[in-house]
Amino acid sequence: MCGIMGYLGERPAKDIIYTGLKRLEYRGYDSAGVAVLTKDVQTIKAVGDTSKLDLTKLPKSATIGIGHTRWATHGRPSAQNAHPHTYGDITLVHNGIIENYQDIKDSLKLSDLKSQTDSEVLAALINNNYQKGKISLIEALKRSLVEVSGTFGLVVMSPLESNQLLVARRGSPIVIGVGDIQNFVASDPSAIISHTDKVIYLEDDQIARVTRTSIEIFDLKLKHKNPNINRLSKSEAEATLGHYKTYLEKEIKEQPESLKNLMRGRVSQKGTVKLGGPNLDADDANNLEQILIIGCGTSYYAGLYAKYKLEEMLNMPVIVEHASEFRYRHGAYKSNSTLAIFISQSGETADVLASIQEAKRRHLKTMGIVNTIGSSVARAVEHGGIYLHAGQEVSVASTKAYSSMVSAILMFGAQLVYQRGGNSNITKEVAKELLMLPSEIKATFELHENIKKLTKQINHFEKWFYLGRNSLYPVALEGALKLTEVSYIHAQAFPTGEMKHGPISLVDNKHISILLLPEDETLYEKGISALEELIARGGTIFTISTRPKPKGSNYHLQVTYVGEYTEGLIYNICLQLLALEVATIRGVNIDRPRNLAKSVTVE
Ligand code: M6R
Repeated sequence: MCGIMGYLGERPAKDIIYTGLKRLEYRGYDSAGVAVLTKDVQTIKAVGDTSKLDLTKLPKSATIGIGHTRWATHGRPSAQNAHPHTYGDITLVHNGIIENYQDIKDSLKLSDLKSQTDSEVLAALINNNYQKGKISLIEALKRSLVEVSGTFGLVVMSPLESNQLLVARRGSPIVIGVGDIQNFVASDPSAIISHTDKVIYLEDDQIARVTRTSIEIFDLKLKHKNPNINRLSKSEAEATLGHYKTYLEKEIKEQPESLKNLMRGRVSQKGTVKLGGPNLDADDANNLEQILIIGCGTSYYAGLYAKYKLEEMLNMPVIVEHASEFRYRHGAYKSNSTLAIFISQSGETADVLASIQEAKRRHLKTMGIVNTIGSSVARAVEHGGIYLHAGQEVSVASTKAYSSMVSAILMFGAQLVYQRGGNSNITKEVAKELLMLPSEIKATFELHENIKKLTKQINHFEKWFYLGRNSLYPVALEGALKLTEVSYIHAQAFPTGEMKHGPISLVDNKHISILLLPEDETLYEKGISALEELIARGGTIFTISTRPKPKGSNYHLQVTYVGEYTEGLIYNICLQLLALEVATIRGVNIDRPRNLAKSVTVE
């Protein structure tokens, strides 16, 4: 959550920080600020996104500074609560949460704070330890970090030691960009990739001292550590809107391409799947007794869809857990024969990272399915994983990452069936369907105009139910989440068969049900029974099915059936387009819905 950008070099810091922050706004956009250092610190702050910042108020001559774009945790969005925060000789930007900030505030008897944030308390603590420069700033930072509990990605500067930025991390990502007589600090590489492709990812409980010409890494005892310089790849390059009005639409329409990128060199026309990333040898594969899939939001729903398919493919229990639940649950998992797969677009979600630690503690095998190369999840898992190569996802509402996640797990399942000497026809069938997906998704885009027209007729409904049975139930869940996020409509998904156990009491003329009818004959008929029950109670029904419009349905979309493993992905495209069109009519900020942030790096 929140974006951090820092610069020190020979160019005007304010411009470089500003453009970096613009690229980070997907992490939070309720307020922003920039501070630069000349003799003193000069700071500008504003409520809203970075466009509200008045850069003319900062001197061009300053060549060192820090900036922040915020997603509020402690204290409402306001100029006072926006970062950077200055207390005494310390100015800082902070991502994460200082859990014991109240204790620190009490023990330092802080009565002169300007904000309600935990971050300003941290600045006061460092300032207190610094004692006007009686010890070095890095020593003061070290002493302070030992005193705090919680999470931080942190950049600190002080006019008393004006040639350096100090950086620290615990649980909140920080990357240092290596330049030539200039260096950069950011919360993720997208902010600095236009300046350098050489980066150092700070590890938890490390401090870095960055000057214009040097980068030193230390542990919390200030013992030197060797920096590990990584090269960023092209897929992390900047995303631009092109001819689209929103990233949401662009990313929905990119799916044929993102899926091809996922499968390139991995899925063959001969019906084989070869993944180099998962690091499971023959014994590991054969000894597996269960799979645990863990994620949040859309990534969780991708896992839930996969559960239905993997259980059939592998004849093995597959358990799916919300990361926020798993980290505090005491489920019974067999340590050596359970594979825990962590799914995350950003690779930085705090609950997912904490769950990896929990899984390791229980001696489970850990593997990642991640979009962001070099991200914390990708680095934390012990048995490798699969990079999605979907390209940067800018829209807060996740779309192309979802289809890639589902496909990636199916690929993994298909490979595992083969490794375990299972039915080779399964591997072939999965490969065949996956290879057909890009063109079938493209064909589904032809329904977009029709969806636009239908949306105008149904946009006024206040209560939206999404219903699906079997593997279409997780598709319904994901569809409802998409609509909720981008249109602020309260949409809820249920297994079709659950309607009559309660939710049907809500059906009236303000309600519409989006009913996903499967290809399978028996399940289709059960869906038709649910349709009739809804009609009998005055409900309005929007059906999506591989067959023509059923009797009684008010609105209908007919989609293609690709095959049993991937069918849900085609329905999902329709639900993504539906959410996009409802949001367009309602005139909300589609790419940056209120109260949300792209990457949830706090608990
Ligand atoms: O980066 P992650 O995949 O770990 O993010 C998980 C969720 O926060 C994310 O999927 C969220 O639910 C999206 N806004 C959904 O569109």
